[in-house]
Amino acid sequence: MADGENNRAMTPAARCPGMSYTDLLDLDTRQVPEFLREESLLELTDAPLAADRYTSAEFAALEDEKMWPNVWQFAAREEDFPEAGDTVVYENAGKSFLLIRQEDGGVRAFYNVCLHRGRKLRTQSGFSKELKCPFHGFTWNNDGTLKEKPCPWDFQHLKEDKMSLPELRVDRWQGFVMISEKQDIAPFKEWAGPATAHYDRWRLDECYTAAWIARVIPANWKVTAEAFMEAYHAVVTHPQILAFTGDANTRYDLYGDHMNRAITPSAVLSPHVAHLHDQQHILDSLVAFATQGEKGGGPRRPGSRFSDTEDAGASADISDPVMARKLTAEANRKTFGEMSGRDFSDISDTEMTDNFTYNIFPNFSPWGGFIPNIVYRWRPHQDPDHCLMEIRILMRGKPDEPKPKSPPMHLIGEDEPFASAGHIIGAGLASVFDQDMANLPFVQDGLKASANKEVQLGSYQESRIRHFHQTLDKYLSA
Ligand code: FES
Ligand SMILES: [Fe+2]
Repeated sequence: MADGENNRAMTPAARCPGMSYTDLLDLDTRQVPEFLREESLLELTDAPLAADRYTSAEFAALEDEKMWPNVWQFAAREEDFPEAGDTVVYENAGKSFLLIRQEDGGVRAFYNVCLHRGRKLRTQSGFSKELKCPFHGFTWNNDGTLKEKPCPWDFQHLKEDKMSLPELRVDRWQGFVMISEKQDIAPFKEWAGPATAHYDRWRLDECYTAAWIARVIPANWKVTAEAFMEAYHAVVTHPQILAFTGDANTRYDLYGDHMNRAITPSAVLSPHVAHLHDQQHILDSLVAFATQGEKGGGPRRPGSRFSDTEDAGASADISDPVMARKLTAEANRKTFGEMSGRDFSDISDTEMTDNFTYNIFPNFSPWGGFIPNIVYRWRPHQDPDHCLMEIRILMRGKPDEPKPKSPPMHLIGEDEPFASAGHIIGAGLASVFDQDMANLPFVQDGLKASANKEVQLGSYQESRIRHFHQTLDKYLSA
């Protein structure tokens, strides 16, 4: 390619040969929502990215100054702090925020900082009758108004009406509590864009956090997040899932500045192993993955995204090219319908089977569809070479039962594998994360050692990464 040509913005046109995700929708046994059929691409360049975006302290400082304060951040799930007085301490990019459930069920968010001499008011989430600073005892009510200043005779210069805790913007969407430091930011749905409407169907507000794990990863938060923005790496990094994952058939869609998605078909063969073309083999591989590490049953793992074994393992008609999908979808309708007390009989095969990996800029990935949904969040941690990656699994609750409170976040030690949390999210899924983690520290090291200090991206399969950086640049140059 001639110099400069890859700086021209174009819509990527080439696709993996063979059946596409859209073709699969034509074979669905139910009506498929139109927003799954519609492709949404934007014009992007093919120019390389600078490696120091991931490694330099200056770049991270620019993100802290220009990006994080000006976006909506996923700070908590509603079920993390259900009762009046429950609090969540949410920290990111060097700042600490305090969310408090109000008497009327509302949520307020404050800077978690005492207005006397700056001590953090709380260091961890939990119940709060009032907000009493542990240093000298300045105290605020849970609504942020000042309650008491010890020795008031010494603070006659501090006027009550100026002593309420500074607040952040709060918005609530699908059970997620979003906060922003930017007072004049558009409401969350307007800011994130019309693709938020896809969730009107999936209703993650009906779900609760069934599992929540996290680990500090020795790689930049963007390096880590980007490992979950493309399915391109599956063929080499996750060979065990090719027997039931349409990695190269993944659809990538981009929406405005702040949202994009990958839809990776499940219960189909990867185009990389198309010669296997055996529907029973697909089903058997999927069941083996779902039940990995389980000998003789046992209690259901809280974060399992899979159906009960005997349902998914039904014998397949190998002449039907999507029989494994149909059987998997049907097993999921039954298992997750019973678990949630809901009727999924009209829900499409794709929404009962596939992986809807949506991302909302900058660091929030709430999956869509009707099987238990993964939610990722990535935050910088201490320096540009580390991040905290969190994984939640949301389960749909029964309509007539109160949602359980979230379990505490299970923090995996930095020297421990995700496999150590296999009893929470399942050994198969944990092994996939460990495979991802086997790359990330070496990506971080390699970016620093690079001779040309450039990163190259595929035009289509890595379009979400480019989209993400394009939006990041808009914030950094604003
Ligand atoms: S720093 Fe909080 S009361 Fe002094
Ligand atoms: Fe991966």
